[in-house]
Amino acid sequence: MAVHWVHLAFLFLSVASSTAAASGACSSASFSSNRVYAACSDLPRLSSSLHWSYDAATSLLSLAFVAPPPKPEGWVAWAINPTADGMVGSQALIAFHQPDGKMGVRTYNITSYESIAASPIEYETSDLAAEYSGGVVRMFGKMKLPAGTTVVKQVWQVGSTVVSGVPQAHDFQSANLQSKGTVDLVKGAVAVSGGSSSTTRNKNVHGVINAVSWGILLPIGAIFARYLKTFKSADPAWFYLHVACQIIGYGVGVGGWATGLNLGSKSKGIQYTTHRNIGMTLFSLATLQVFALFVRPNKDHKYRFYWNIYHHLVGYTVIVLGIVNVFKGLQILSVDDKYRVGYIITICILGGIALLLEVVTWIIVLKRKSDNSTKPCDRSSSTGVPLAV
Ligand SMILES: *[C@@H]1O[C@H](CO)[C@@H](O)[C@H](O)[C@H]1NC(C)=O
Repeated sequence: MAVHWVHLAFLFLSVASSTAAASGACSSASFSSNRVYAACSDLPRLSSSLHWSYDAATSLLSLAFVAPPPKPEGWVAWAINPTADGMVGSQALIAFHQPDGKMGVRTYNITSYESIAASPIEYETSDLAAEYSGGVVRMFGKMKLPAGTTVVKQVWQVGSTVVSGVPQAHDFQSANLQSKGTVDLVKGAVAVSGGSSSTTRNKNVHGVINAVSWGILLPIGAIFARYLKTFKSADPAWFYLHVACQIIGYGVGVGGWATGLNLGSKSKGIQYTTHRNIGMTLFSLATLQVFALFVRPNKDHKYRFYWNIYHHLVGYTVIVLGIVNVFKGLQILSVDDKYRVGYIITICILGGIALLLEVVTWIIVLKRKSDNSTKPCDRSSSTGVPLAV
């Protein structure tokens, strides 16, 4: 059974693009009743997202708030706080299963932490509606904001219980306590309280280092190894290029991995479990790969064949996981689409180069085979026959 680079290229390209398509609620959002919104932000806490259109001329805000309540019978809330930056003072929309069993939205002028009661709010509201499906509440509404409003303080929340039509207190995890910040309705920028600018900078540094090392250098190193080998004149240059690329990629990647550990230890409230687990796996596999070099059997050793299988399997796994995790990270950072697109283009170029070289390799190898077919000695294994695993 042959594991071919082409297949892997297609595999990781399709994994990558499906990951990109599924990233965050923003890129995958579609709403019932032809509701469409001009702007969207994946909110950094409580797995929620805000979708909105804002007509600055009439200061009419049309929004959808999407969040998973901890339990199906729970509630979700989105609010503007015109006076303070916490819960008290919030002009809130809260969606939950009403006593009649249907999903509905009520407005709350929240004046204390102890109890809340449905009441009119400072803004005129209309078209309030909510839906529950797949563990997620989608809450819709329109709010007429004071003329000239551009930036508002937003607060959002989820809770697990409603008793006799009254939403009960939410959890006090740090994600619940940090789910507030500002949103610039015109520019679409969302800022979060509690996320300092140095954290944002550290996250960006972490992203760049890891995208370059795991996401670009290691795949390039694999391309060197696989395709330069075919050219006899590139022996042993391909080997040194491969080793140099992977050592640099690994070195920089471990640095990036350490910055990730540091970010993870600071982020108590919100955990990116998948991203972290993939990161841990990547580090372990790549480290194993480095140490396995020291036990590499000699070229003619009978175990060398098995070592090669191991080396390729782990190597390609690291590359695929590395690329997947770059996309996971882009999703977490909720970066501008241009970065995501830039990375997708980079990967497509690398994939295209690999595909082209794969074809060239096969042509050369098949040609060599037919040239050599009269000779008794099959030298194909040292002339770069595409690896047969
Ligand atoms: C909300 O409650 C505060 C405090 O009781 C009150 O001053 C304010 O007028 C209320 N707002 C509305 C729209 O009822």
